[in-house]
Amino acid sequence: MATVPGVDAVVERATVDDLAGMAECFRLGFGATEAERARWERGLDVDRAVVVHGRDGEVAAASHIRPFQQWFGGRSVPLAGFSPVAVLPEHRGRGLGRAVTAGQFADLRDRGEVIAGLFPASVALYRGVGFEVAGSYVHRRIPAAHLSPLRLPDSVRVRRGSVDDVAAVHRCYDRIAPGIDGAVTRTEAWWARRLPPDLADTVLYVVDDPGRPGELRGYGSYRHGTARPPYDYSVVVAEVQAVDGDSLRALWGVVGSSGSQAPDVEVIGPAEDPIFLLVGAADPRAVRSEIRWMLRLVDAAGAVAARGWRPGLRGAVDLDVVDDHAPWNAGRWRLEVDDGEARLVPGGTGAVRLGIGALSSWWAGYARARTLASAGLLACADAAALASFDAVGATSPPILVDFY
Ligand SMILES: CC(C)(COP(=O)(O)OP(=O)(O)OC[C@H]1O[C@@H](n2cnc3c(N)ncnc32)[C@H](O)[C@@H]1OP(=O)(O)O)[C@@H](O)C(=O)NCCC(=O)NCCS
Repeated sequence: MATVPGVDAVVERATVDDLAGMAECFRLGFGATEAERARWERGLDVDRAVVVHGRDGEVAAASHIRPFQQWFGGRSVPLAGFSPVAVLPEHRGRGLGRAVTAGQFADLRDRGEVIAGLFPASVALYRGVGFEVAGSYVHRRIPAAHLSPLRLPDSVRVRRGSVDDVAAVHRCYDRIAPGIDGAVTRTEAWWARRLPPDLADTVLYVVDDPGRPGELRGYGSYRHGTARPPYDYSVVVAEVQAVDGDSLRALWGVVGSSGSQAPDVEVIGPAEDPIFLLVGAADPRAVRSEIRWMLRLVDAAGAVAARGWRPGLRGAVDLDVVDDHAPWNAGRWRLEVDDGEARLVPGGTGAVRLGIGALSSWWAGYARARTLASAGLLACADAAALASFDAVGATSPPILVDFY
C-alpha cells in the first residue's frame, strides 16, 4: 500500500481478483471492444500491476509494467515500460493517473529496473511525476521516388528472404541494437508483431554476410498498405537495418522501388531520422504523426552506473536533484565520469540544480544542459559547471521505434 504526494488515494498491489476490473479500465481507456477484453486480460501480469479501488471496491485506476531492456552507451539497461495506464472515466481528474504511475516506483527500484519509460497520452501527466521527453517517434510518408535512386552497389546482392531467414534477422538486429542508444531488446512476442515468423503479409529482403555463413549484413521488411487513389497500394515499412552503409542503401533502394504503383513509403523513425543522410530530396508534407516518448530515472545512482558513457572522458559535476515521487534520488550528488564509466556519489556543492525529469532527459542524451537551463528546468550560476555537465553527457538523442 502506498500514497502519492498530493493525491487522496491508496495505491495497492493488484491481485487476481482485480484482473477483470483492470481489463475493464483498459477497455474503456483505449476503446477496445468487448471481444478484445479477453486478450487484454491474458496479456496482463498481475504481479506487475497496481490499482486504486473506488468506493464500491471497483478498480478505479490501474497501471501495468512490461519489463525489458534498453541500450544506452553500448550497455543494456533494465527498463520498466508502463503499458498501459488507465483510469475509469468517472474517476478521472482527481490525480489517480498520477497515483498509479508514481505508485509503481518503489517496486521498480526493488526489482532493479533503474529506468522507466512510456509513450505518453499526456506529457503533463507524466512530467508531473518525474518523467521527461527523451526521444521522438515520427510516422512519415517518404516518396518512393526519393528512395529508388539509392541504387544497388555492385558489391551488394539483395535477395528475397524466407521464413528460413527469420532467425538470422533476429541475430542481425541483436548485433546492431547495442550501437543504437534507445533501441530495445526484443522478445519473441515483440518480434511477432514486427516480423511474423510465417512472414504472413510481409515482404522480407536480406543481404547475406559473405564472411559469416548463415548470418546477414542487413534486412528490410514491409507490408502492403492502403492506396492513395489512383494508385494500388502503399509500402508500409516495418524496418530496414544494416551493419554497413552499402547494404543499407541497397535495401532502401529495393524497398523504394515500387513507386510506379505505390508512390508512398511509410516509415517510423526519430525526428532526425538517419535516412536523411541517404536520400537526396525533402518532402515538406512528409510527417503524418509525431509523438515523443518519455523516460524517468527510477534509481538515479543505479541508472548512472548502468549505462555506458563516452570513452576517454573524465569529469565531475555537482548536482542537486529534486524528486518528490522517488525521494531516494533527491539531494546532492557528485557525478563522476571516468573513461566510459560513471557514478553518483552522495555530497558535493549542488552547483547544478535540476528536477529528476530534466536529469532523465539529459541522461538519455535527448536534452543538453544548456537547453534545459533555457527552458527553466535546470538552474546553475556556475557557467563552468554547466559546460562540464554538457561535456560529459551523451551527444545524440536516443532512437526508439518499438511502440509499447
Ligand atoms: C490519461 C488518464 C490516465 C488520466 O487520468 P486522470 O486520473 O484523469 O489523471 P490525473 O487526474 O492524475 O491528471 C494528471 C494530469 O494529467 C493531465 N491530463 C489528465 N487528463 C488529460 C487529458 N484528457 N488530456 C490531456 N491531459 C490530461 C493533466 O495535466 C493533469 O493535471 P491537472 O489535473 O493538474 O490538470 C485518463 O484520462 C485515461 O485513462 N485515459 C484513457 C487511457 C489513456 O490515455 N491512458 C494513458 C496512456 S499513456
